[in-house]
Amino acid sequence: MKTLIKCGTVVLEDEVILGDVLIEDGKIVRIEEKINDVVDRVIDAEGKIVLPGGIDGHTHFNLHVGSNVTSDDFTTGTIAAAFGGNTAIVDHMGFGPKGCDLHHQAGVYHGYADGKCVIDYGFHGVVQEVDADILEEMASMADDGHPSFKIYLTYDYKVEDAEALKVMKRLKDVGGITTVHCENDAAINYLRRKFVGEGKCAPKYHALSRPESCENESVLRMITLAEAAGDAPLYIVHVSSARSAQLIKEARARGQHVFGETCPQYLFLDETSYELPGDEGLKYIMSPPLRDKSNQEKLWNYIKDGTLQVVATDHCTFNYHGSKELGRDNFTLCPNGGPGVETRVPLVFSEGVAKGRINLVKFARIISTNPARLFGLYPKKGALRPGSDADIMLIDPHKEVTITKSLLHENVDYTPYEGFKVTGWPVMTMVRGQVVVENGKLMQEPGYGEFQKRGRIDMSKLQGEF
Ligand code: URP
Ligand code: ZN
Ligand code: ZN
Repeated sequence: MKTLIKCGTVVLEDEVILGDVLIEDGKIVRIEEKINDVVDRVIDAEGKIVLPGGIDGHTHFNLHVGSNVTSDDFTTGTIAAAFGGNTAIVDHMGFGPKGCDLHHQAGVYHGYADGKCVIDYGFHGVVQEVDADILEEMASMADDGHPSFKIYLTYDYKVEDAEALKVMKRLKDVGGITTVHCENDAAINYLRRKFVGEGKCAPKYHALSRPESCENESVLRMITLAEAAGDAPLYIVHVSSARSAQLIKEARARGQHVFGETCPQYLFLDETSYELPGDEGLKYIMSPPLRDKSNQEKLWNYIKDGTLQVVATDHCTFNYHGSKELGRDNFTLCPNGGPGVETRVPLVFSEGVAKGRINLVKFARIISTNPARLFGLYPKKGALRPGSDADIMLIDPHKEVTITKSLLHENVDYTPYEGFKVTGWPVMTMVRGQVVVENGKLMQEPGYGEFQKRGRIDMSKLQGEF
């Protein structure tokens, strides 16, 4: 099967050309200004932007947290992702039963996802206890295609500093990468108890109990431990604060392999949402919380200068009705997380490219190429180049859309971006040469998406410009 995408604005790794993309048997074969081969299908991309498909490296589908389960599973989540221009996701495994080994959750997640996805997928491992066996097991997890792991510095299975250091060192040795949720657990718990004890239970106290200082402290602590581990590669998820980004910038300037991810919620929403009338503020309870608006433009600057390499979503959906509303009388009872997998690409395109903050090459990097590089998917995925999977999205740069819940496919009863006006919208998503979404229609069945056995991470290739 041969497909030709004709006359598009094609975003390559270092330049943008007007041209054609030839696809054969799921792979990109050639990208040239004019290709005249006889093909099975021609896709007219005139006036459209042809980009590597979005890769959301931070989702939580089918996540079980206490008695709550996220409303998006791997079917609804990947469908929403596909409508949002994504061709792959890497989901974070949730915690398993106490004492379970690393492969336990890998098995559980294969059970959740295999045969259920419409786009390609992988899983980040989760480290909940650290001992010699767990550290040993990381090598076989990497062999199985899971070279990245998340550690949490708060929540039930928070890891202590010595454990974090051991994990970082071991992952460096096995060609893996440590991703970390940075918040100071002791300070947060103290503040939460204090506020609740004083009857201060409204959503804004969620933010006040998890101040920027708590994030900044633990970002610096993890950077310090990564250095002590012999410059172990470290990826800081959901950076919400400009001060945290500055710490990453300084570590990178010293030559450390530290990387940072921010999310649309920290670029486009701010802490005033917690004071919305009624219980609306509950919809924005996530960790880290939304911050003061002054962080937003600074985070954009850290994206521009390469300090933050990735914009992912942390998509973690709990319905307002039945789940989020559990926090009505006490914010600590509200499950944490929010939607975003379908709106990431259009929001970042509109606010980033259409508003002139970043160019198309940078857009492709933060949305696709960089997560592919950092998580072992590149060059199979994450770039338009001969030999790569034909994972492609087409954006109509002129399409104006007002985001509203009913337009989206996310299986959740609200969007935090209700009423946001965007310019530019993904109009086609293709995975391995097959169209998954076209003109607002889903073209593949669940099960089309394939598990991606990700490769080990070669630190020597994580140099230079991002
Ligand atoms: O509030 C959030 N972010 N929930 C998802 C879990 C996490 O910390 O990433
Ligand atoms: Zn987290
Ligand atoms: Zn997360």
